[in-house]
Amino acid sequence: MNFASDNIVGASAPVLQAIMQANAGAMAAYSNDEISKRVKARFNEIFEREVSVFFVTTGTAANALALSSAVPPYGLCVCHQEAHIIDDECGAPEFFMHGAKLAGLPGMGAKLKSDEVAAYLQGLPKAVKQMPPKALSVSQVTECGMVYALDEIAALGAVCREHGLSFHMDGARFVNALVALGCTPAEMTWKRGVDILSFGATKNGGLMAEAIVVFRPDLAEALDYRSKRAGQIISKGRLIAAQFEGYFADDHWLENARHANRMAKLLSEGLSGLSGVRLGWPTQANEVFPIIPQALDRALKAAGILYNSWTEISLPESERVGADEALIRLVTSWATREEDVRRLLEIASSEVSRQAAE
Ligand SMILES: Cc1ncc(COP(=O)(O)O)c(C=O)c1O
Repeated sequence: MNFASDNIVGASAPVLQAIMQANAGAMAAYSNDEISKRVKARFNEIFEREVSVFFVTTGTAANALALSSAVPPYGLCVCHQEAHIIDDECGAPEFFMHGAKLAGLPGMGAKLKSDEVAAYLQGLPKAVKQMPPKALSVSQVTECGMVYALDEIAALGAVCREHGLSFHMDGARFVNALVALGCTPAEMTWKRGVDILSFGATKNGGLMAEAIVVFRPDLAEALDYRSKRAGQIISKGRLIAAQFEGYFADDHWLENARHANRMAKLLSEGLSGLSGVRLGWPTQANEVFPIIPQALDRALKAAGILYNSWTEISLPESERVGADEALIRLVTSWATREEDVRRLLEIASSEVSRQAAE
């Protein structure tokens, strides 16, 4: 049983079928084909307005290129200190921003608060010696599995407007947040002030399906050139675009995310009901972060269950992981089988009972 991430499974059948269908015959290269055009038009429908769409193959590429168009080489991009862009992308954003820096702020659940961001921006020295803030980036879902509410996004958007920052959203798990909030893509993004989005589909059924979605035309101006320089203008672009046709058809993307979130809820409720187990952060999408006794951690691993341990830096202030405890992350996906979740819960429950009897 593997709960290490939501990218440990392959691509979903509708996505693969769409690729197979797009495979036949000759078509214009470099996304100048009819499928790519159709998918771009579909993005306009989904976001209820004209958007610019750039297909890329990884979330790191989406983030790095999106930020490079929003931040000049002398600028600062504000993010959470645990953000994927600062912690897990080997410096790609800074590399593509050509010298600009990421400034990581603290915040419970890897979430930024608008008043704290505003206070940070206000406190920055305004001299030519200091890098001026030019963008804010948030992850929706956050790295601790939390979802920004619509009013929280709007409040951050307002701070960006007030201070002249571009607002970037890392949506590697965009749709898991979307179905959790039960809102539209427009409501979660440009209607709340988001200027540019990394739209992830790989974790939710794609093979390598990521897109930069741009709501502010000036940020899209040079993105074709930036993408080409990053090797992300894909010659057989139709096979990348086709994935989105399968993904969006018949609400497949929404169904996949609803399933992943449902599995996480089941796992979360089962684990948090066990004696000695509590949640580090509430389960709001498809990631569960229980704090468990180390003996249970050992037993789960011995049973062959795969998952990762997690950092405690963004726990609520009152919460600490004890010396005999472990904070772990379990991730569910569109392909997680309910029987595997139930089996994990059985193993955990019998281990907790066994330890209590000792
Ligand atoms: C928050 C977040 N952003 C972006 C990514 C994209 O990463 P990758 O470059 O592996 O597609 C991930 C993947 O783990 C992620 O969790």
